[in-house]
Amino acid sequence: MSEHIDKYLEQVRASAEQGTMVKMTLSKPVQKHDELRNLYVKPVLIKEKRLFAFTYRYERRDEVKNYDAAQMLDVLQAMLPGRFLNAVLFTVSEDVTLLVSSKGKATIQTKKVQECREQNLEHDKQKVRLVNPANPWWYQLGLTTREGKITADMQHKFKQIYKYAEIVESLIKPMKFAGIVHIADMGAGKGYLTFALHELLTQRLNMEVDIKGVEIRPDLVLKINEIIKADGLKGLAFVESSIEAYHPEKLDVLIALHACNTATDDAIASGIKAGAQLIVCAPCCHKQIRQEMERSGKLDAITRYGIFMERQAVMITDTIRALILEYFGYKTQVMEFIEMEHTPKNVLLVGVKTNNKVDKDKILNSISEIKQQYGIHEHYLETVLPLNS
Ligand SMILES: C[S@@+](CC[C@H](N)C(=O)[O-])C[C@H]1O[C@@H](n2cnc3c(N)ncnc32)[C@H](O)[C@@H]1O
Repeated sequence: MSEHIDKYLEQVRASAEQGTMVKMTLSKPVQKHDELRNLYVKPVLIKEKRLFAFTYRYERRDEVKNYDAAQMLDVLQAMLPGRFLNAVLFTVSEDVTLLVSSKGKATIQTKKVQECREQNLEHDKQKVRLVNPANPWWYQLGLTTREGKITADMQHKFKQIYKYAEIVESLIKPMKFAGIVHIADMGAGKGYLTFALHELLTQRLNMEVDIKGVEIRPDLVLKINEIIKADGLKGLAFVESSIEAYHPEKLDVLIALHACNTATDDAIASGIKAGAQLIVCAPCCHKQIRQEMERSGKLDAITRYGIFMERQAVMITDTIRALILEYFGYKTQVMEFIEMEHTPKNVLLVGVKTNNKVDKDKILNSISEIKQQYGIHEHYLETVLPLNS
């Protein structure tokens, strides 16, 4: 049998080398109850490199991995006949089928096609969804049923997850990273948005990542790491730490979503110090500035209306954060994270590192004017990240 398999793999190798391979399909798992149902292979051009996209079709999810020609043959060798009994190689001019019987007898059949096919090197991106609720972690995280249906009480959360994935994709896609992308998600909580980020970057954008979810609650860290292990997810781990104590050496992207009060500032400071290219945060409560504003008594006319005071504190806190990011060379944007009906914490503050020259004095003046006007002594971010005047 091994002679036939070698001969078949040699045909695959030749078609890959000659650029005649259109696609490949592996079917009929050896084990009837194997979770891996099919394997689809397709040549793709990624960053001008010819690779082979492998779509592993599991019972309830797809996983996509890209390999070069040598890796492709190694994987196929392990799969045939170890995991699958049938394989079809579709080339531009013929279909080459490998059939292995249950008794282990292998045969190869070749059929010429009537009309020559063309190779399509485009990635089937449309097939990989932004976030796929059928992936097992969504069930394990408690957002879907076992069959991958979003539960009624998690519909809003999923809307937020999709919106987040959409925004992050638009921010990250145009960026250039060298090698593995190091990401910290500070105050990661139950991990919903951290898993969405991992899924988006690895499955849809085919990026190599090292994502750390930083979370102070040990019970959450333990639970999430168990899910990561069970699903065999690479490049994702939760770390038990306070944001203040977490100082990554290498950081390309800093995420901090709904980290309470000044924890957002600690996260931003850590991102700026590590030279992160992208900083994305959704601030939560704004107690520090609110208390300073109330204490100063400068805004009596506003402070008597609690709701206005709250809104004012949000705007002042996040405007100063945006100015500080600009001071350190970040181009900032403030955008709506999700419609107000889903959560009042709906602002996303984004900073993208640039090499543009910055008028630091002008920024310092703006910060100083705001502080004076609203009776603020110091914004917490300034205390952890001193600005030189
Ligand atoms: C409101 S949840 C947000 C979770 C997630 N980022 C999201 O947006 O869905 C905030 C999380 O941050 C954690 N947290 C709060 N302060 C922290 C700190 N100083 N260091 C690390 N984690 C913190 C909390 O335990 C909680 O799980």
